[in-house]
Amino acid sequence: MAVRVHLNFAMSLDGCIGLPGPRPLQLSGPEDLKRVHELRASCDAILVGVGTVLADDPKLTVKTELIGRRAKNPLRVVLDASLRTPAGSKVLSPDAPTVVFTGRKGGALPPAEIVRVAADEHGFLDLNAVIAGLDKRRVGALLVEGGATTIASFLRERLVDELTVFVAPMLVGLPGAPRAFTGEPIALDGLKLGEPRRVGTGVLLRWTRP
Ligand SMILES: NC(=O)c1ccc[n+]([C@@H]2O[C@H](COP(=O)([O-])OP(=O)(O)OC[C@H]3O[C@@H](n4cnc5c(N)ncnc54)[C@H](OP(=O)(O)O)[C@@H]3O)[C@@H](O)[C@H]2O)c1
Repeated sequence: MAVRVHLNFAMSLDGCIGLPGPRPLQLSGPEDLKRVHELRASCDAILVGVGTVLADDPKLTVKTELIGRRAKNPLRVVLDASLRTPAGSKVLSPDAPTVVFTGRKGGALPPAEIVRVAADEHGFLDLNAVIAGLDKRRVGALLVEGGATTIASFLRERLVDELTVFVAPMLVGLPGAPRAFTGEPIALDGLKLGEPRRVGTGVLLRWTRP
């Protein structure tokens, strides 16, 4: 079985995906939130980096009230090389199972399953090993939600099969706000642009790997 990776995030018109520091920023309006929760419901696993856990404390579950039906919560996945996820994080709630990928030997974050994978010289986890670990856990469809560092890693390593970006009618402008992409420029070779779609007051852009 191969893991299909869908990267989805929301950004402001000036390319920011959050605010400086551990402060959440709501970029999606009600229509986009509904779309995101439908997307979550259609996936086997949702992945974020530990930076998002620390900044937003997301529960990473499907809000049934937003999609109007009951749905199974996907597996929750955190990239956390040094096990910085706080013990009381919502991502560890009993609503769904959680797997925390780490580079560290030992350590526990009950009730999450801890899986050790190799890390590179910068301490970043080997994403191919993460994907192989998810494949082993029968994940066919993986939704990557961010944050900034995680988005850049998945794009740089060309692991994205589908990319959706909600562009919100908002300008952030603050120095230090996390941007959708930082680092050496890369071209999204091999991804084909679909029709842009109006979602609420914003625009949804979509690229897929043919
Ligand atoms: N607008 C949106 O759609 C959206 C969605 C999600 C988050 N956000 C925003 O994004 C911001 C957080 O972004 P962030 O860059 O600080 O955090 P992040 O991408 O959530 O997490 C990054 C951390 O994950 C760990 N990691 C381990 N292996 C990695 C790998 N191969 N690639 C990337 N990361 C790896 C690293 O920490 P260790 O070295 O400690 O493991 C790294 O610092 C917040 O402001 C949040 O609100 C926005």
